[in-house]
Amino acid sequence: MERTEFTEFIPSLPQELGLECMTRLPYMAHRVASRVCKQWRELLESKDFYYRRKKLRYTHKVACLVQAVHGADVPQGSKPGSSPPSFGITVFDSVSQTWQRLDPVPKYPGGLPLFCQLASCDGKLVVMGGWDPVSYEQVSHVFVYDFPTRMWREGKEMPSKRSFFAIGAYSGRVYVAGGHDENKNALKTGWVYDLSKDEWAELSQMSQERDECEGVVIGDEFWVVSGYRTDNQGEFEESAEVYEFRPGQWRRVEEAWVPGRCPRSCVGAGKDGKLTRWADLDPEVRVAGRGIMFGSRVMFIGSENPGSPQGFYMVEMKDGQNGRLEKINVPEEFSGGDMPQAQAMAQTTAVLINHSSSDAITDFVLKQGNGVKGLSETGLKNLPKQYIQPLEEIISEDKIMPQASIPIIDMLELDGPAAEESVLLQNVKEATHRFFRLPAEEKRKYLKEFSPSNNVRFGTSFSPEAEKALEWKDYLSLFYVSEDEASALWPSVCRDQVLDYMRRSETVIRRLLDVLMKNLKVIEIDGTKESLLMGSKRINLNYYPTCPKPELTVGIGRHSDVLTLTVLLQDGIGGLYVRGDDDYWIHVPPVDGSLVINVGDALQIMSNGRYKSVEHCVMTDGSKNRISIPIFINPRPSDKISPLREVLASGEKAVYKEVLYSDYVKHFFRKAHDGKKTVDFAKIRLT
Ligand code: OGA
Ligand code: NI
Repeated sequence: MERTEFTEFIPSLPQELGLECMTRLPYMAHRVASRVCKQWRELLESKDFYYRRKKLRYTHKVACLVQAVHGADVPQGSKPGSSPPSFGITVFDSVSQTWQRLDPVPKYPGGLPLFCQLASCDGKLVVMGGWDPVSYEQVSHVFVYDFPTRMWREGKEMPSKRSFFAIGAYSGRVYVAGGHDENKNALKTGWVYDLSKDEWAELSQMSQERDECEGVVIGDEFWVVSGYRTDNQGEFEESAEVYEFRPGQWRRVEEAWVPGRCPRSCVGAGKDGKLTRWADLDPEVRVAGRGIMFGSRVMFIGSENPGSPQGFYMVEMKDGQNGRLEKINVPEEFSGGDMPQAQAMAQTTAVLINHSSSDAITDFVLKQGNGVKGLSETGLKNLPKQYIQPLEEIISEDKIMPQASIPIIDMLELDGPAAEESVLLQNVKEATHRFFRLPAEEKRKYLKEFSPSNNVRFGTSFSPEAEKALEWKDYLSLFYVSEDEASALWPSVCRDQVLDYMRRSETVIRRLLDVLMKNLKVIEIDGTKESLLMGSKRINLNYYPTCPKPELTVGIGRHSDVLTLTVLLQDGIGGLYVRGDDDYWIHVPPVDGSLVINVGDALQIMSNGRYKSVEHCVMTDGSKNRISIPIFINPRPSDKISPLREVLASGEKAVYKEVLYSDYVKHFFRKAHDGKKTVDFAKIRLT
């Protein structure tokens, strides 16, 4: 992500206040505001500013509709004798109740392709296909509008020409299926467009051709409703075809639609999350027309009674009853009133330049202290959007290396009476459950905003501001300064057991480091080395709640730990994977009384790459709550780390440069988890 320096925006106002004022500026005022000065323009267009607005909840959803452009120039060279309307995209912001028209697509300054289709994804509007407004030929263009920068770009063309197809967007991708080709043959094929990669991939085929079908995304499925076969033109089917994003398969659903009725633009998801015809939603909703979904609200465009003029309405679909229809006042130029074709042609979508529908969840999880655990305990059946991870991040059966095993250190065989050790481990696990069982109000006291100290922090996911998709995990993180500080600040429900466990783990850690250092020709761990290897410690209590869709998310994304060593205690549930050769992963099975030891990046750097930090991740479980308790052994933040003198003594070339450990850690936390990328920060670049 590009970084923007936020400096003084409003002369003589302190920087903080100036930025606050800018943040509160409604999106619809950005266009004018960005003309004030270069600095404002850069701010308003920057991704960081978008994320800031999103985080502070100043963003929301807007409706995008294709409308007849009133009084617009008719494209030159139109067919003589006809004066087709020309089309543009109208954006309605229901919060500020303002209407705007987007700049035309550069390729079509006189008006959009007729019957083009809209979808929205990641704060972007996608326009696909349709007919050239002059020649009426089918086109396969893809145009993408980015709201923060207000720029259109041309995407990779659709792999084949098709019209009247179903369209739907999900997790950075736009799905299309059905419709007809240039020769009016109905299609049963489907394709998916990846916005960030600008690539198309073919889907498997539907069970039958579906011309003039309609698409709608419901939960994690793409519904392709009705349509007809080439030789049955206009005989709309009662069946639908449903594409399940994971595992990526079609399923046919019979009796999904009223046979004979055209589904175009009148299909949506009702309040129960099921396929609905807008007109059937509520007896009051007699408006036959299209609907645009905004989370729990729907905007309708249509006529209250046959023959009456087109109107715009808003309705709340909270659980229980639908609210009343509220009429929206529409300025004349956006009403499309005297253009009946506009109704027939208008395509609509709501663009997420916002996350209003997800706000409630973010608030509940992050701000109120309920964590993902609270979310899981509501018994929800689906995974909220913000937790859906890209497919590549999920470890499915086919990516697991069978029969691979991990060397195990048996705590019970180390010194000290075995029974005592196992009680110690049991105690700290119980203490962890005790902490997470505390009511949200108690845990909330340790959130970043409220915690009495930076050294005690309750949180959720990894770095919610930096992550595109959140992780299904809550944690309490405790930085160890001294026994006294811990006694004063750590939550009393777990403090004593955690401290006991840390004290006892000391022996294991020293023994491990002794062995590891001997191998590097470091004879003795003196004071300086001790600081460098184990000068600071942190312990986390991790909680991975039962997940409604474990195949869609992760507990922790792929990463290596930044530090010297991690000593991890886990319960009997399992879910931790380490990367083996190639693209395979090895499960680290829970073994009673054992600890998992990870080599971290700092040790990789100090050993000049002889010890490699291990890439690992955690998958969630569909029926159990898992806990884990890692102790993180680190250099001190003020230490400079680099390959050890002893390692380089024989003339070996340093692969890593010297870095300040606190800088290294900051670099790690600034971005989302991304495998072993952090260590590149310390790599010496050969130029
Ligand atoms: C971590 C980690 C693994 C686990 O906290 O860095 O990788 O099993 N934990 O919880
Ligand atoms: Ni880790």
